[in-house]
Amino acid sequence: MGYLPYMKESIKRVEATRQQRVNETYPRASAEEKKDVLENFHPDYADAGFKEMKFGPNKGERMPNRFADVLEAKSVINPDEIDLDNPDLETDVLVIGGGGAGSAAALLAQENGADVLMTTKLRHGDANTMMAQGGIQAADKEKDSPARHYLDVIGGGHFDNIPELVEALVHDAPLVIKWLEELGVMFDKDEDGRMQTRHGGGTSRKRMHSAKDYSGAAIMRTLRDEVRNKGIEVIEFAPAVELILDDKGQCAGAVLYHLETKKYSVVKAKTTILATGGIGRLHIGGFATTNHYGATADGLVMAYRAGAELAFMDSLQYHPTGSVFPEQTVGLLITEKVRGLGAQEINDEGEEFVNPLETRDVSAASIIRECEGRGKGIETPSGLQGVWLDSPLIDLKHGEGTIEKELPAMVRQFRRFGIDITKEPMLVYPTLHYQNGGILINEEGETGIENLFVAGEAAGGIHGRNRLMGNSLLDIVVFGRRAGRNAAAKVGKVKQGELNLNHVRKYHHELEEAGIKTDRVSPQILPDYTPEETKKKTGLVKTAF
Ligand code: FUM
Repeated sequence: MGYLPYMKESIKRVEATRQQRVNETYPRASAEEKKDVLENFHPDYADAGFKEMKFGPNKGERMPNRFADVLEAKSVINPDEIDLDNPDLETDVLVIGGGGAGSAAALLAQENGADVLMTTKLRHGDANTMMAQGGIQAADKEKDSPARHYLDVIGGGHFDNIPELVEALVHDAPLVIKWLEELGVMFDKDEDGRMQTRHGGGTSRKRMHSAKDYSGAAIMRTLRDEVRNKGIEVIEFAPAVELILDDKGQCAGAVLYHLETKKYSVVKAKTTILATGGIGRLHIGGFATTNHYGATADGLVMAYRAGAELAFMDSLQYHPTGSVFPEQTVGLLITEKVRGLGAQEINDEGEEFVNPLETRDVSAASIIRECEGRGKGIETPSGLQGVWLDSPLIDLKHGEGTIEKELPAMVRQFRRFGIDITKEPMLVYPTLHYQNGGILINEEGETGIENLFVAGEAAGGIHGRNRLMGNSLLDIVVFGRRAGRNAAAKVGKVKQGELNLNHVRKYHHELEEAGIKTDRVSPQILPDYTPEETKKKTGLVKTAF
């Protein structure tokens, strides 16, 4: 099908300025310009999308509306109907979540002597990790250092990051690359065998390691194979729906819901690792998302009910370059590697308006300003707006064939719809990609709840208020490994009391006390795409599961 005639007219204006842009670099925004565009155009700064939490560990803090909705909801279980005296399964370490963080955690927990059980909502590997494209950061080359990496992470996060967590992240990064390579990840290399590394937005050195534009899939497949090879038991299609505490307030396992049999089961565990991922499928602010269907904030809800503190949950990441055309691709990720290789963001008049390597928040806000503030976007037939990501520049800068070689996933994604990104640009608009915050952890992956660890996107504090590209694939492995190792080390010291779900009863009481009357239940488990109108007509408020 390809682009429509009016789009082709706009592309002619992009082509008209392309040659002149090959060797030009759009200036980086000053601190004042960044502040201005963020405050006026970044969705995090629009108060209408947020509300104040009325109860719980983060009472008084601002939360995105749709996330607050899943916190202001009842449990899916009736605590009186769950038999905690006769657990269905017992283990040393329970890992909840089968993505990259959960898999790394399971491997390290087992390596450190623990009996490990992993449970996952869908299939093992159905996770944002699998969909990550561009790469993983690590300062492992001569002209770079963990200290430089640290400064980039802190600067990118607007200096709000928790320093100890950043230190852990950058310190473990080179080791993580080595570990992944030894497990079998095929990182891109030069002919002399040296790792290829590139820039991402906000990096002062080229430290992005990649496996083409399938970096996440390469890592996820390797970790999944390793978990299977090591004989770790994995229960699929069994999301956790509540944590279990003991009478000392320590975490003691979880209640699972088996999607196929529609039955609950109880897993008693000495230590528990939550690695349930993000919240993109709540479609905060009505944005499309790059996220996996399982990204419905389940772990955050369970942890909040159990009394864990959340951090920076009012800070979300909109990836600047989500696809907006063809319609079938709306929200899909167009990797930042495209800009790392030299593609530029161009408006309907053929003008560049932002440096391609600004941090994601500034870049996303600049695209929104171009479309909504300046009217220089291109409208799609369904009324969405976008700007051009001028990919043909890459071959002009680096030689013909570079796009095919470096971005095979992108080439295929668009070729299916008759668009050749080696010759034509892509139409893009910000898409909900990541939660910068999450459950507050320390550098050991511990939370405020004894024996509860968290790793991966569910954890908060590492990235401050804006994560840089490639630091998520990194953090899932760094903190997955740390949580796994520490959860295993703790097993022998755990003195468990009587198991209970009193925190769920207490939560229901707090909801009432806060005057929140609702039939909503959470965790949501699957995205809720029932139109509001249908809900009103049918009275249906629960999600499908
Ligand atoms: O653009 C990307 O490839 C995304 C990477 C990330 O979020 O780290």
